[in-house]
Amino acid sequence: MSKQIYITRQIPEAGLKILREKGVEFDMGTEDTPPCKKDIIKKLKKKQYDGVISFLTDTIDKEVMDACPTVKIFANFSVGFNNIDTEEAKKRGIEASNTPGTSDVAVAEHTIALIMALTTRLVEGDRYMRAGKYKGWSPDLLVGTDMKGKVIGLVGGGAIGGEVARVLHNGFGAQILYSDIVENKKLEEETGAIKKDFIELVKEADIISLHCPLLPSTTHLINKEVLDQMKPTAFLINTARGPVIDEKSLIEALKNKKIRGAALDVYEFEPKIVKGLNKLDNIILTPHIASARESARNMMSEIVAKNIISVLEGGKAINSAIK
Ligand code: DGY
Repeated sequence: MSKQIYITRQIPEAGLKILREKGVEFDMGTEDTPPCKKDIIKKLKKKQYDGVISFLTDTIDKEVMDACPTVKIFANFSVGFNNIDTEEAKKRGIEASNTPGTSDVAVAEHTIALIMALTTRLVEGDRYMRAGKYKGWSPDLLVGTDMKGKVIGLVGGGAIGGEVARVLHNGFGAQILYSDIVENKKLEEETGAIKKDFIELVKEADIISLHCPLLPSTTHLINKEVLDQMKPTAFLINTARGPVIDEKSLIEALKNKKIRGAALDVYEFEPKIVKGLNKLDNIILTPHIASARESARNMMSEIVAKNIISVLEGGKAINSAIK
């Protein structure tokens, strides 16, 4: 009998082609919005699926795993995989995988765009023009700050952080600091990056950019105490995962000008926005689109398909998320 998988939402043709070539049949969600956990469970109970392609918006926990005991792999269509209970999967001998390396360039470029938009006050300028407020050139109108020579504090010195570091160091002469549990010698050699204790980095950086996974240890890593120790001129960027920042404290810090500005692509209670966040002038908000590039999405599609096939053919996932 041919292998059957469930894909909770549509993925680009690149991956579907690979699945078809290997004779893997699939049922694919067609809704524009993510299915809720109840719907995923309902769907999984209908067939004896061999695998699932899931997204960061899908909760894959014990109950979901119970719904279809024949599933051998949950292949996540994203780099982050905090939506999957990997401990539970491990206990059951189920594979879980992600798509590392697919969006390093995209997320790094989006991060840099957010940094530049903050330092140049680009979005504020756009809003100002559209509101019909522009009455002529003025020396004190929306005065920004140079990017050149700034100290960048990367929380997470992995692939995405490394890409941000290279562009900002080579292009703007930025000094790179990073905090991580592992040392990145290559990053240090290429950019002169210095590994710092997290709090030291927080105190010294002009721009703090988050590139760490969401773990119990990184949840609310950026909280009131940390925000209080940032420079009043500093900016905070989050293209990692929303709950790394305690957003209520961030709102207070921005309101009281404890820090100069922030830019978020991800949110603590995604897709909900904490009340007051979108009322502030010194923040830029984008809808979790840092990796939204054709190249990245096609690569993700191919990689999820390859992970599925590898497991359905009796092997391990190529990009196993099980530690
Ligand atoms: C990821 O890959 O984890 C991004 O957040 C979504 O594409």
